Amino acid sequence: MSATASDSIMETGTFVNCFLLVISLVIIPVNGGYDKERDALLKGTFPQDFIWSSATAAYQIEGAWNVSDKGPSVWDTLAHQGRVYNQDTGDVACDSYHKYPEDVALMKQMGLKYYRFSISWPRIFPTGEQQDGVNQDGVRYYNALINELIANDIQPMVTLFHWDLPQVLQDRYGGFLNNHTTNTTVIHDLFGDYARFCYQNFGDRVKYWITFNEPWITSWLGYGVGNFAPQHNEPAEGQYKAAHNIILSHAKAYHIYDDEFRAAQNGQVGITLNCDWGTPKTPADADAAIRYIQFSMGWFAHPIFKNGDYPEVMKTTMTRKAQEEGRTTSRLPEFTPEQKAYISGTGDFFGLNHYTTVEVTDACCTPIENPNYDTDKDVGTGHAPDWPRAASSWLYVVPWGIRNLLGFIKEEYGDPEIYVTENGRSDHDQDPAIMMDMERICYYMMYTNEVMKASNMDNVKVKAYTAWSLLDNFEWLSGYSERFGLHYVDFNDPTRTRYPKASSVFFKQLVRNNGYPEGSEFTKYVENMWYFCHNTTEAEVNGYTGGASQISSLFSLFLAIPMMIAYSLIA
Ligand code: BGC
Repeated sequence: MSATASDSIMETGTFVNCFLLVISLVIIPVNGGYDKERDALLKGTFPQDFIWSSATAAYQIEGAWNVSDKGPSVWDTLAHQGRVYNQDTGDVACDSYHKYPEDVALMKQMGLKYYRFSISWPRIFPTGEQQDGVNQDGVRYYNALINELIANDIQPMVTLFHWDLPQVLQDRYGGFLNNHTTNTTVIHDLFGDYARFCYQNFGDRVKYWITFNEPWITSWLGYGVGNFAPQHNEPAEGQYKAAHNIILSHAKAYHIYDDEFRAAQNGQVGITLNCDWGTPKTPADADAAIRYIQFSMGWFAHPIFKNGDYPEVMKTTMTRKAQEEGRTTSRLPEFTPEQKAYISGTGDFFGLNHYTTVEVTDACCTPIENPNYDTDKDVGTGHAPDWPRAASSWLYVVPWGIRNLLGFIKEEYGDPEIYVTENGRSDHDQDPAIMMDMERICYYMMYTNEVMKASNMDNVKVKAYTAWSLLDNFEWLSGYSERFGLHYVDFNDPTRTRYPKASSVFFKQLVRNNGYPEGSEFTKYVENMWYFCHNTTEAEVNGYTGGASQISSLFSLFLAIPMMIAYSLIA
């Protein structure tokens, strides 16, 4: 669909009525859960320099898994073993390796000025080690992508590691399990070399670097449970060893930038951590909820943003567990004083990926025969019955959770600058395709409004909001069965054509308005949608009994239906 067509649909207000109509047909208000004060729409705008972005990751979109000299990553290995739903692989994915100019054009059409993507380590160094050779075609590809972005006035925000470790490093050194307690760990140096190479080759144009994306996932799912690549199953200790190495590798990449590049390149280096907000089920579960957060986000954030060491509650819990298990040392490794000093303060910004909230209960302290990270936390997790669920089994829609989490980060880590580097909602892959993705629109509307409350009401220094994702893509173990994109990708079509979903039109307006300014057409549209999105009605919240909006919805029936058909046809 052309930009002009999508603009005019949105701007005529017919689109508004069309959405209202569809929403009223598809959402059956279940009531409950809406809190009139907490969930009210905040009108206003984000600070002027607020960063609006969308994100992707190399393995999820690039394809071209073995083009020129690219080496295999641990995700290539896992997918080729048939471990992904439907035996899907990232071999072609969205084919962004060839279609990146189209991706950039989509961003441009949406008015986005930033793009978060990741570099594939084995596409740059096929074995992971520079001394074994550099894949010049990989360097050419990232240069071409970065140049295309800059030419379109879009700032690159680059993640160095989004889970696709070179397979050779796993085979040679055990990947992030390598010598985790010594100072001569090869993996730190190799990650440092790779980071240095990226700063050297791309740092003249890239001013935002993210060392690791969600080290929690790599550590626990990759090296603890082992259902994610590199499939190492050691749930008592694997995750603690891997996390230890990742934190030190992050610090190394940070110091290399600081020592060798910052003065000339003047960029920023941070890390992206994932965290669900943990809300206590009852007041008695309050400590358990904090413990849940400290064991997930705090595991990485406490060393990096606080004092170079793991959170106190993690250390004491793990020491107690060691005694109960008859061990002489804790399964949680220790940092030396030198390492603590080296790690502390190695984040210019705090990258946050947030999607959902869990209800936490205290489950302390039954000794367990086969302990693992999940049981170590001494908590139970669940979900309130009135939280709607997205296509992903773990993704419950609880917008106020992000505001609480942002407030927690502000208080706990000394008021850092926070970049929301991912937030989004999945749909199922179904026929017909979900192009009028109302629930995604609702999700973005509600979550960004909560981020604005954190920024404008709670004075959290939240500087960026990034939608996950620009495109439907390879959703890890779920393959192509869960779609997070603002744009639909037809994975059966060899040309991988991209189609804008309704949410891309919404997001464009959100960016253009920089929030929800009082009196704008966009904010009026949002006001109309607000109660539908919250699964309630205005009447239930405010005792409102007027009829005007019903009349206008009815009137729009004649316009909205042809409009919807036209939209779905063009799209
Ligand atoms: C990851 C993405 C992933 C998304 C949705 C985040 O954990 O960084 O790669 O696709 O969540 O599951």
